Amino acid sequence: MQRFYLESYGCHMNVYDTQGLERQLEDHGYTRVAAPEDADVVLVNTCSVREHAEERTLNRLAVLSRLKAKNPAMKLGVCGCMAQRMGAEIKKRVPRVDLIVGAQALPAVLPALKALERGESSGPVVEPLNHYLPPPRPRLDAKNLKGFVTIIRGCNKACAYCIVPTTRGPEVSRHPDDVLLEVQELVLRGAKEITLLGQNVNSYSAAGADFPELLQRCGAVAGKWRLRFTTSHPRDMSPEVVRRMAEAPRLAPWLHLPVQSGSPRLLRAMNRDYTLEQYLVAIDAAREAMPDLAVTTDLIVGFPGETADDFAQTLALVERVRYDTSYAFKYSPRSGTAAARLEDDVTGEEKQRRLAILLAAQRRLSHEINQAWVGRTVEVLIEGRDERHGNGLTRTGQNKMVLVPWQDGLAPGQFAEAVVERAEGQTLHGRLVAAG
Ligand code: 5AD
Ligand code: SF4
Repeated sequence: MQRFYLESYGCHMNVYDTQGLERQLEDHGYTRVAAPEDADVVLVNTCSVREHAEERTLNRLAVLSRLKAKNPAMKLGVCGCMAQRMGAEIKKRVPRVDLIVGAQALPAVLPALKALERGESSGPVVEPLNHYLPPPRPRLDAKNLKGFVTIIRGCNKACAYCIVPTTRGPEVSRHPDDVLLEVQELVLRGAKEITLLGQNVNSYSAAGADFPELLQRCGAVAGKWRLRFTTSHPRDMSPEVVRRMAEAPRLAPWLHLPVQSGSPRLLRAMNRDYTLEQYLVAIDAAREAMPDLAVTTDLIVGFPGETADDFAQTLALVERVRYDTSYAFKYSPRSGTAAARLEDDVTGEEKQRRLAILLAAQRRLSHEINQAWVGRTVEVLIEGRDERHGNGLTRTGQNKMVLVPWQDGLAPGQFAEAVVERAEGQTLHGRLVAAG
């Protein structure tokens, strides 16, 4: 019997893929263990989105590689986006790596492991496989309240900074029946929240169904549960699409719509393919169609050529939209992208300064927005119990955490009503008024 240990970095899509890998290996007689020291096979599913992510993973691989030095029978594998992007180069950085399988070839992990066990080294497998090869389906776990279902892989956009089209290839939508089956299985097994995943979910198109149609069909699956999706691209968010999306049953009032910059000039330089006006129209339409909608975004500071004025426009946009949360990143050049040919001319220090300004503005806004929830009664999903403080950990449809005193009879997976009593930073505090 072979024991495997699996570690995952990066986005939700990677989490989904990692669960799929786990299921595939378990279906073939491998057993998962919780520590790399106990494993015959150690796999790391990697992310390439920023250089920092890659450096951290290379450091981690160096640590895991020292385990292999002590136990040469252990197999060390790298999969996912870094494997796709760097291929055999990974072996130059971490020579003890046995297996390299790219994000577009994940179903090849199992045969590659078998080849290693037979003593044949398989070398890197980074070529895209047949696109129709189904991804390994995630293992369904009754205890798992939150499920993820990939509906579309890859990306056909060409944002100047982004490595994803290189690592994950062109868009491929899954058949709506496959998606629906997976959603149904998750709901039957007790999932209370399901997030449809894609680099660009609203480009979804398969067997005559577009994204709003798919949302409608998934949301119609009977039961008490919440539907979410991420990530969408503003280019594909016409008011008409937004209105149709909002009609989906069980859809949680939460929208993550990455804008990246508030400067029209930079949006063009980033090749984002929408204007600021279009973006704002999409946000307004979404807010109109979904009451109490929480809106979140991604922002990049220090893109090549970003002036103080461009940055001020980003700040102004954040103030105008009043995001519930935003995720801001320092621009990181990725070789092979269009922006990598531009001079990375904003200094590290200046990027850090702009990041700190954005974070401070966001912290203030999040606090103000959360303050407005005080006194309101909200529906929450009980996710678990914080053993240390004895609080119940619950979440609203807006994806806001509400800490409540634990009560006898509560169980994770229940929906309940809570009154919000105070707001602290990103977290709300309250008490339950009725458990359902
Ligand atoms: N540098 C910095 N941030 C990036 N992102 C994607 N590529 C880069 C890059 N090269 C950010 C974007 C994206 C999020 C997932 O990561 O904001 O929305
Ligand atoms: Fe990272 Fe992007 Fe790959 Fe997800 S798709 S793992 S964020 S590089």
